[in-house]
Amino acid sequence: MSKNPSLEEDDEAMPISEVIKRFKRLRLVFEPSLGILGFFLVGLCLVFSFFFLDYRTVAKTKSHGFSDQSERFLWLKELDVNGSGVNNNTNEDRVEFLEESGNGCDVFDGKWVWDESYPLYQSKDCFFIDEGFRCTEFGRPDLFYTKWKWQPTHCNLPRFDAKLMLEKLRNKRLVFVGDSIGRNQWESLLCLLSSAIENKNLVYEVNNKPISKHMGFFVFKFHDYNCTVEYYRAPFLVLQSRPPKGSPEKVKTTLKLETMDWSADKWRDADILVFNTGHWWNYEKTIRGGCYFQEGDKVRMKMKIDHAYRRAMKTVLKWIQEEVNSSKTQVFFRTFAPVHFRGGDWRTGGTCHMETFPDFGASLVPSETWQHMKLLQDVLSSLYYSKISKTVKLKLLNITVMAAQRNDGHPSLYYLGSAGPAPVHREDCSHWCLPGVPDSWNELLYALFLKHQGYSRSKNSVSDNLT
Ligand SMILES: *[C@@H]1O[C@H](CO)[C@@H](O)[C@H](O)[C@H]1NC(C)=O
Ligand SMILES: *[C@@H]1O[C@H](CO)[C@@H](O)[C@H](O)[C@H]1NC(C)=O
Ligand SMILES: *[C@@H]1O[C@H](CO)[C@@H](O)[C@H](O)[C@H]1NC(C)=O
Ligand SMILES: *[C@@H]1O[C@H](CO)[C@@H](O)[C@H](O)[C@H]1NC(C)=O
Ligand SMILES: *[C@@H]1O[C@H](CO)[C@@H](O)[C@H](O)[C@H]1NC(C)=O
Repeated sequence: MSKNPSLEEDDEAMPISEVIKRFKRLRLVFEPSLGILGFFLVGLCLVFSFFFLDYRTVAKTKSHGFSDQSERFLWLKELDVNGSGVNNNTNEDRVEFLEESGNGCDVFDGKWVWDESYPLYQSKDCFFIDEGFRCTEFGRPDLFYTKWKWQPTHCNLPRFDAKLMLEKLRNKRLVFVGDSIGRNQWESLLCLLSSAIENKNLVYEVNNKPISKHMGFFVFKFHDYNCTVEYYRAPFLVLQSRPPKGSPEKVKTTLKLETMDWSADKWRDADILVFNTGHWWNYEKTIRGGCYFQEGDKVRMKMKIDHAYRRAMKTVLKWIQEEVNSSKTQVFFRTFAPVHFRGGDWRTGGTCHMETFPDFGASLVPSETWQHMKLLQDVLSSLYYSKISKTVKLKLLNITVMAAQRNDGHPSLYYLGSAGPAPVHREDCSHWCLPGVPDSWNELLYALFLKHQGYSRSKNSVSDNLT
């Protein structure tokens, strides 16, 4: 909770207390046999020492092979007894989300469970990831972060099936609009989907653009399915442009809070829209750089950022209501993905380096995360929304809580690609390694998309047969 650096010791102890809790559970199961107890004790010591080693060896990364990694996983697996401990994803009480009985299951209420069958792809097999997310290839020594699966409390998610998703996307457009965390998720989906394509030449950017950080948009086509998976950079979702004439000199740009981003015309007719925004609604990325807020012709020099955010979200909701054909387009809004800088922020040496275990209590995220979540909740439940909510069809990808637990999922030092690890005081604890946490968001997107398809198919089989 607190940012007091003296708490860091405690934070490192987190995984250990978790393991001890698990050990207690195991003991309940195996009470009778001292031999087994002893065995687990030894196993635990080994796991401890592996986590410990992890913390120590992280600095010297380059020559690190990964063969020893798999051995570590084996030890975790030994601990992993059915129905207890790390892995408890075989709960017979749970219904399948895609079955009718899964209707109404809150897929965002759940926990992370260890799953040996993850990750769903390897970064070296995926051409679409930019260097900043290829953590393991560029020196991150542990693979633990790739092994966690999201398990909803009351239902099971379908396993991601790239062929099925591509089939459902045939002749369709899936569009991500937002900031670089949106790009992160978009690249994850490109990897997940292209894992089903043998000939990688049949997945290409339609304008031949290489993926880079600052380009305005990318349109990737899956040739055999005639579908596109696109990304539009619009970190605020509303339009950022030149200030009106006669504005004070310190106003370099304005955010026109009542106007959607310029690219909106390009994606209005997409079949699936996935919005996100959040990381740019702060002082650093707005007013400090001379970016002020504008309503009508007026630059609001004193407008608070929270207020501007609300105003912009209202614009987005109104736009969805008025401009999007809800019988064609499914609209998702992905909620804020927390950052995990400890002992500072991205400018002041905050760190997430050497964090290799999730923080199931989500105690390591800055309080800003929950403020942001509250703000969004307020917007959605506010007057604006309730007036139009009957006609705004918008699904939340409510990933804030699940991502808050994944302090272990960020690139930290390993975002500079072949330029080598970054200096320890310049870490990336905002974006996510791939494979990694955004894959889980896409598994949720996949589940919700299929659920929706199931719906419209049973209701609307004629149109489905025509496509
Ligand atoms: C776990 O459960 C599965 C099916 O319920 C069973 O096949 C497997 O042998 C069990 N594994 C262990 C280690 O008990
Ligand atoms: C694991 O799942 C079983 C149901 O299959 C449940 O009874 C048990 O409480 C769970 N254990 C833990 C540690 O979550
Ligand atoms: C390909 O998909 C687009 C929609 O994205 C559609 O307009 C076009 O007709 C499709 N082409 C073929 C050959 O089906
Ligand atoms: C909305 O989309 C549906 C399904 O694609 C289509 O039949 C309908 O004509 C569209 N409505 C408008 C106003 O474009
Ligand atoms: C998102 O999920 C969390 C945890 O399940 C919940 O507390 C929160 O209210 C949800 N947010 C919204 C906007 O629904």
